[in-house]
Amino acid sequence: MTILITNIKELLQVRDETILKVSGLQMKELPTIKNAYLLIDNDTIVDYGEMSVVTGINADQIIDASGKLVLPTWCDSHTHIVYASDRSQEFVDRINGLSYEDIANRGGGILNSAKTLQDTSEDDLYNQSVARLKAVMSLGTGAIEIKSGYGLTPEAEFKMLRVIKRLKKDFPIKVKATFLGAHALPIAFKDNKQGYLDQIINDMLPQIAKENLAQYIDVFCEKGYFDLDDTAQILKAGQEYNLTPKIHVNQFNAFGGIALAVKHQAISVDHLEELNNEDIIALKDSNTMPVALPSCSYFLSIPYTPGRQLIDAGLPLALATDYNPGSTPSGNMNFVVSTACIKMKLTPEEAINAATINGAYAMGISNQYGSITKGKKANVIITKPVSSYNYLPYAFGDNHIETVIINGEII
Ligand code: NIG
Ligand code: FE
Repeated sequence: MTILITNIKELLQVRDETILKVSGLQMKELPTIKNAYLLIDNDTIVDYGEMSVVTGINADQIIDASGKLVLPTWCDSHTHIVYASDRSQEFVDRINGLSYEDIANRGGGILNSAKTLQDTSEDDLYNQSVARLKAVMSLGTGAIEIKSGYGLTPEAEFKMLRVIKRLKKDFPIKVKATFLGAHALPIAFKDNKQGYLDQIINDMLPQIAKENLAQYIDVFCEKGYFDLDDTAQILKAGQEYNLTPKIHVNQFNAFGGIALAVKHQAISVDHLEELNNEDIIALKDSNTMPVALPSCSYFLSIPYTPGRQLIDAGLPLALATDYNPGSTPSGNMNFVVSTACIKMKLTPEEAINAATINGAYAMGISNQYGSITKGKKANVIITKPVSSYNYLPYAFGDNHIETVIINGEII
């Protein structure tokens, strides 16, 4: 099955060569072709160029994109979309004056989600997650990373990871799985943190490796959760099973977690709302992608990741949603891109690079996703008629998407 998209007002993020990420000044550049066509053959981008040369190309389906933009689908490299029921009551508690920390300290937060998930069947969890996955696909997300971490017992963590595996099998969207056993200390181990770390290392990791349930290993490296020593233990243990580190760090406090992650060759470090000079130095000349989650800052009213500072220091930046029931109950990458421009002062070019090619890098898939490149997967968004790509982040809160194609399939 071939699809030809014609008369595209502007085709965005066109890269003749497969590049893996963009950094610093390169982030300002968004290569485009005006008045373009794009040819898809089954699940692959096979050709593109200016309309003037398109004569004679035939296709099973032709889509006229007059006045519309075409861009790669979003690559959301950080989510927790497999969870059981929402935490809207805690949202109201925060409005009434409690902090995120107060709620966690009284047994709410991640532990609240874990309790619910432990009591939810795998099929129910799958069905809830399917609804969220379908919703984000229709919002233009074509590749997604999903974490465990709301189980906090071996059985419940495996249940989450098996649901992720089913989603991967059942939907055209590219899915990467991350094991986040060290998300919070379960009540049963309240006075025995090492006991829980041992359970992760000795009981969970071997089974996860055996069933091939994850590609990445994550830790919530934060005061009151897991410290540098705990994080190092988990990352090292994960690496013994070929799980690459990808960690939550510097959300509320900066205390050396970024340097530790870089030392362990983390593919990404995520959150970074609190960032100091040593952190920036640690990221320089590393292969680790900094990932900002502006919807989380918006929802919790915490600082935004200083993305401008990171880019100006010559570093790359990726943007992701952090979709989860506690700190970011939204998986809308369009809102993330807008918020990055409005609150973090990224240019539209930088934000689109961060949400496509660099997001793909943060999932280890930028050889196949994140740009319009011959041979890459046929994952594209066709917008409604708009004045220019600046309009996408500018007119925030509206849905500018007309059609989403994932793996060659019209969604
Ligand atoms: O990325 N920071 C840690 N984990 C999640 C939120 C956890 C929760 O509140 O459920 C995050 O923000
Ligand atoms: Fe997260």
